[in-house]
Amino acid sequence: MKIGIYQFNPEWGQIEKNINNIESNLEKHRDVDLWVLPELCTTGYQFKSRQELKERAEEFPGSHTSDKMQKLSSRLNTAIILGVAEKSGSNLYNSAAVYGNGNFKGNYRKIHLFDQEKKCFDSGQQSPGIFDLLGVQVGVMICFDWIFPETARSLALQGAQLIAHPANLVLPYCQDAMVTRSIENKVFTATANRFGTENRTGQKLTFTGKSQVTDIDGSRLGQLSQNKEQILKVDIDPARASQKSINDNNDLFQDRRTNLYTLDK
Ligand code: ACM
Repeated sequence: MKIGIYQFNPEWGQIEKNINNIESNLEKHRDVDLWVLPELCTTGYQFKSRQELKERAEEFPGSHTSDKMQKLSSRLNTAIILGVAEKSGSNLYNSAAVYGNGNFKGNYRKIHLFDQEKKCFDSGQQSPGIFDLLGVQVGVMICFDWIFPETARSLALQGAQLIAHPANLVLPYCQDAMVTRSIENKVFTATANRFGTENRTGQKLTFTGKSQVTDIDGSRLGQLSQNKEQILKVDIDPARASQKSINDNNDLFQDRRTNLYTLDK
């Protein structure tokens, strides 16, 4: 499977322009099987109010952006996972929309909202799940979900071979933390981050770029720059992520001592 990451600097509020940009860049790379794009990459990140978000959030499926992405996925015969602002009834979610070969496959709604996101978005109420894309088991999580290792773990326990991770990262730790998420779960990860800055609310945010793909042993199969528009393409063999033994005597999942972990219920 060839994974493609498109790292760019979405223009705030310019949905059509951002969609056109995505289309023209992805169309140049017909060899990619699965694209991962950044969080909120059609709208931009910072909203001044819930009302402002409401005016730009769309339904997935059934909206203009969703139709465009569905058609792009069909034209390129590829899977696409991208971060979007989703409206569902009166709820507003920071979501990832998933398309495969011209079909809408579903959404993941971010469960761990970061900082000011809590003022505008509703947090997702469903467990992060797995999408079957081209026969590959792909788990999806969004940005700040990385700091809760339970997110990646629960995806791995459900059989994820690859974790697709749209992001708008502002803290400096995640790219290194995802190395550990790979090692501790023996999964591939693909973090699609944006770069650039936004300062719409008086809080200047600088996004950290450095989108990357990690191997099941944590090694980086590729990483982009901090502040350039770039595309990363990496070949992976997802089947390697299905084997969880560490040596003759240890297995990552079978050796878990779940009855001894005092986790909240
Ligand atoms: C983040 O979750 N966008 C930092």
